[in-house]
Amino acid sequence: MSTPSPALLPIRRLTPRDLTACADLSENRGWSRQEHRWNFLLTAGTGYGIDDPDGGLIAACVLTQYGPQSRPDLGAIGMVLVAERYARQGIGRRLMRHVMATAGTTPLTLYATPNGRPLYEELGFKIIGWAETVAGHFTPEPGEQCSSSDGRLTTRAATASDLTGILRLDEEVFGADRTALITRLPAFADQLRVAEKHGRLIGYAAAWPNTGTHVVGPLIAQDTETAKALIASLAARTDRPLRTDIDLRHEELLAWLKACGLAPTARNAVMTYGITELPGDESRRFAPLTVAAG
Ligand SMILES: CC(C)(COP(=O)(O)OP(=O)(O)OC[C@H]1O[C@@H](n2cnc3c(N)ncnc32)[C@H](O)[C@@H]1OP(=O)(O)O)[C@@H](O)C(=O)NCCC(=O)NCCS
Repeated sequence: MSTPSPALLPIRRLTPRDLTACADLSENRGWSRQEHRWNFLLTAGTGYGIDDPDGGLIAACVLTQYGPQSRPDLGAIGMVLVAERYARQGIGRRLMRHVMATAGTTPLTLYATPNGRPLYEELGFKIIGWAETVAGHFTPEPGEQCSSSDGRLTTRAATASDLTGILRLDEEVFGADRTALITRLPAFADQLRVAEKHGRLIGYAAAWPNTGTHVVGPLIAQDTETAKALIASLAARTDRPLRTDIDLRHEELLAWLKACGLAPTARNAVMTYGITELPGDESRRFAPLTVAAG
């Protein structure tokens, strides 16, 4: 029997049982395996994929929706991958169209690699901003102020009783209810810290493990000073290099991170479909939880 054309192979929902196949696909495209991130996304979001008749997956992606389940406010698409041997055969386009149809009228967003951008543009996504990935050991330059200069600003590890406040702040700044993701953060991240001023919660940040690094995100803060304090407090509690994706609008924070030893490694376009800007408050949104989920 001849192998069916990939254009005819069914698209199915992925589950955490597909973790190894998803990690294999990441590796196939030169990414690291990222099992921890895949596991999180396949649990908090919905994976879609196409089985390879020879075993494994031909393609995969994840849709994570925010807001009421019956009528989500926003959907984020991520981890869009097509196995190298099936590239440029229309599979990425077909999978994306399927996910867009599934999302219906829900506005969509994604972080596009230079590789994925032409496909998303063809599908009607528009660039609304940029994020720069910076990575490296956080090693303050002599004389560089790498912790807060404001004595009233404090950071500490989050406790269970902070969760309600974190969820409230997150919804205000992200612009949609991310309860399903945020409540999984204590298990997903190695560190979850809050920033306070006069006893009031003014920011929070997490650091989660990814291939030898700690990814900082989400990073939500009242201002740049608070964002710096949160990053410095996370860095003080890990020996690993940090990695984060900072919105280019936050120039001051990016310059500071570079002065503290992190170097730019990539630039991704923030794209939307069905809305011309993201909801929430961009001035307090410094880094996404992951570029694969917003
Ligand atoms: C991006 C990716 C998913 C595209 O999948 P694909 O199945 O090869 O793409 P398609 O064949 O459906 O291409 C659809 C259209 O997108 C555009 N496109 C896709 N790959 C392109 C490339 N490398 N350069 C320029 N345009 C490209 C073209 O317009 C193409 O139409 P055409 O082949 O008729 O000219 C795939 O290249 C991939 O897995 N890349 C590595 C991971 C990655 O960067 N993912 C994006 C994360 S945001």
